[in-house]
Amino acid sequence: MSRFKLLLVDSGVVLESFYLCKLNVCFNSYGQWHDWYTKTNQTFDQMAEPVDMPEEQKLIKCLIKSFGTLPQDRKITYGVDLLESFQTCKNVRKGIKAVFNDFKIIEGRPVYIQLKEYLKRMITNGHLLENQKLPSTRELSSLLSISRNTVLTAYADLEQEGLIYAVKGKGNFVSQVETFNAPSIQLNWKDKINEQTFLADELDLMKHGVRWNHDMISFNSIAPDEKLFDVENFKRAFLNRMAIEGNIVLNYGYAKGYKPLIKYLLHYMEIKGVDIRNKDILITNGFTEGLDLLLSSLNKKHGRIICENPTHHTALKLFRLHGFDIEGIEMDDDGIDVSKLESFLSKKEYDFAYLIPSYHNPTGIVTSSKKRKEIMELFSAYQLPIVEDGFNEELRYSGSHLAPLAAFSGIGNNVIYISSFSKILFPGLRVGWILADKDLIYYLESMKRARTIHTSTLDQAVLFQYLNDGCFEKYLKKAKSVYKKKYELAVHTCQQAIPFKRMTGDGGLHLFLELENNIDSRSLLEKCYQKGVVFLPGDVFYTDGCGKDTLRLGFSRLKEREITQGIKIIGDTLRIDFGG
Ligand SMILES: Cc1ncc(COP(=O)(O)O)c(C=O)c1O
Repeated sequence: MSRFKLLLVDSGVVLESFYLCKLNVCFNSYGQWHDWYTKTNQTFDQMAEPVDMPEEQKLIKCLIKSFGTLPQDRKITYGVDLLESFQTCKNVRKGIKAVFNDFKIIEGRPVYIQLKEYLKRMITNGHLLENQKLPSTRELSSLLSISRNTVLTAYADLEQEGLIYAVKGKGNFVSQVETFNAPSIQLNWKDKINEQTFLADELDLMKHGVRWNHDMISFNSIAPDEKLFDVENFKRAFLNRMAIEGNIVLNYGYAKGYKPLIKYLLHYMEIKGVDIRNKDILITNGFTEGLDLLLSSLNKKHGRIICENPTHHTALKLFRLHGFDIEGIEMDDDGIDVSKLESFLSKKEYDFAYLIPSYHNPTGIVTSSKKRKEIMELFSAYQLPIVEDGFNEELRYSGSHLAPLAAFSGIGNNVIYISSFSKILFPGLRVGWILADKDLIYYLESMKRARTIHTSTLDQAVLFQYLNDGCFEKYLKKAKSVYKKKYELAVHTCQQAIPFKRMTGDGGLHLFLELENNIDSRSLLEKCYQKGVVFLPGDVFYTDGCGKDTLRLGFSRLKEREITQGIKIIGDTLRIDFGG
């Protein structure tokens, strides 16, 4: 059957159904006309004229009359024929306008790009047809109240992309564009998802955790307070770095990372007391990618890891996704219970340990210097690697400096130190690093290249400039003084208002509470939610489903007033609803 099409505009709406139903002619709301035409294939003239024929119908009739019996080999399109035949007809102009009436200019984006994209969408989804004439540049510019140059540029770009073609003296026409060729099918993607991904979904706190509104007091997050961000100096660092080597940082970089940043971080780790002679650094997309890369690269000999219990939820998630069994060792107020750790190590074999010695998440506990030494001795004796998470260690408000485990290991090579700028600077940057033995970094580099090629060189370069300009130290000083105040306020208010069994948190951005009388923190959360306060139930951090009576309070993003108010609400709820 030959195809000819007539695009009509009804009450300002393009008749999409016309294209979708693929009928020869479709008069939306003029149903009987359509039926009549397609069934009998008679000319329009043969049809009795309705008495109350509206303007548009008169136009249609007029149009069809002018072509007699709609020639079979011809597409009658509104762009080509209506315009040529009825240039002066008010309704046709109204019609053109109607076709483009959903073109809305968005501020802050070049209009020619918006117009180009609009027309491209109309062509690719079949609203503008092959060989259909587009309005002249003059006409379209006047209809859309935009400059003619804008239309000219949009048309030129569309021509370059092969979506339209120009015929000298005649105008611009829609090219042949293959659309809607494939039969539309509906796959069931659930059938194609693997077990690992289902597990990732199941463990996704963002999706399945308690939803809260912005007018609530949320202790959920331990993200930094964005109000503290040093945007001005970061902007300056960006401009400076771009002026120095903008062309280089916008190209591909090295999988291992941006060299000046690696050099800076090696020096940074050396200052922390790490012997860097046999070490190297790989830059990653934050701590999380660093751990994932490591887990993808290490031999899963025993399929078992050992860590503090509770521990960082994301790390637990990754261990599970990589198929490790997890053994959690409980924590004293000065770090992991070393005698239990020893007892476990002596009974089963492990691939490595994962430890957060400073401002542990979720407990906020700092492992004492004595315990750090004991841990190192133990792992040396068992010849086991330690993955040290140093994400938060700069956020020390009081007490003496504690060197990371990586420093305790000296020239030894069993500590893999992973850290990031997420908590101590800007998490949006997604820049972290792995410091480890050179031989290990050599292999991790290849895994990094295989997975993501490299971390954004632009981000790394701007960060380097910011660090090198000395802005990091200044920012950290300011951030620490603000967080220290919030920390002290949170501790004080919890002591006053919450009847807890145990509270831990030596610094950092959160406190961890164990409730009295085994009160279930999820039931408490339900009650607090109704009063506009949310927090993270502690069980999500446990390796063994324990911790039902615990909760984590992240205070970093809250105002002081909110910290006091929120903690008081939790305390009152405990007393009123749980007899705490
Ligand atoms: C224990 C721990 N390690 C590391 C991180 C940082 O992860 P990332 O650098 O991927 O943002 C966090 C963030 O919350 C954390 O709690």
